[in-house]
Amino acid sequence: MNDEIFDLYMQAGKIAGDVLRKGAAKVRPGVSILDVVVYVEELIEREGAGVAFPLNVSRNEDAAHDTASAGDERLFETGDLVKLDLGVHLEGYIADTATTVDLGDNPVLVEASRVALDRAVERVRPGITVGELGTVIQHEIETRGFRPISNLTGHALDQYIVHQPPNVPNISIQGGAVLEEGLAFAIEPFASTGAGRVSEKPRCEIFQQIDVKPIRLASARRVMESIRNRRGLPFARRWLPVEKTDIALSALLRNHLIRGYPVLADLPGSRVSQHEHTLIVTADGCEVTTR
Ligand code: CO
Repeated sequence: MNDEIFDLYMQAGKIAGDVLRKGAAKVRPGVSILDVVVYVEELIEREGAGVAFPLNVSRNEDAAHDTASAGDERLFETGDLVKLDLGVHLEGYIADTATTVDLGDNPVLVEASRVALDRAVERVRPGITVGELGTVIQHEIETRGFRPISNLTGHALDQYIVHQPPNVPNISIQGGAVLEEGLAFAIEPFASTGAGRVSEKPRCEIFQQIDVKPIRLASARRVMESIRNRRGLPFARRWLPVEKTDIALSALLRNHLIRGYPVLADLPGSRVSQHEHTLIVTADGCEVTTR
């Protein structure tokens, strides 16, 4: 990684960390989810950066991939355990970071994912495996009486690519990829009171273009036109032109031009906490971009 790209990662990370703190401070019972989402995404753009993916606001047993829909009337409620997961990019170089806001009484659950992240970050240096990070994460979460979510992982980043190998497991695995100097990647432990596995819910508000080919339907063409500047980064349904959006998205999904990211949830009634940082492996350790 050259100095210019390193600096872009660091600048994107600084913006992401600041915006995440400001967004988290807005999360209170009675506040509109849509208002927080719009506030955060506008703040990213006001800082001169791009929104790498729609702000994820996932509550309680929902671990990831929820976001506000257009006209969303849902409010944060007393008792909610709220995950905010945001992405900022500069020229496609991404900072991915998440935190949990507890509107109930789950201090140890919140601590579990935070300490798991901190302990994993301390281990990062060239030559260690992603499996070692998973071992640390699992240990810190289980020590506190919770389960790590085994089918959600951290991930490497690249220009305009939010998820790419190697993945960073939240559980102990044998070996796995060896970290090399210059790798940009995200570690994101999830701690759960449920089964420690997520599955897809019907709700799907986040999508991503996965292919380029012509499509006849006019509304689908309008959607493709409106997301062209995403350069493959994920987008939200609420960002799209309003007319016939749902028909357009269905056609685009059927034709494999886009994919959806449904809400991922652990067992009904369970609670999930999450913390995430983006970091770059350096010669003797790592630089956390999103602090
Ligand atoms: Co991530």
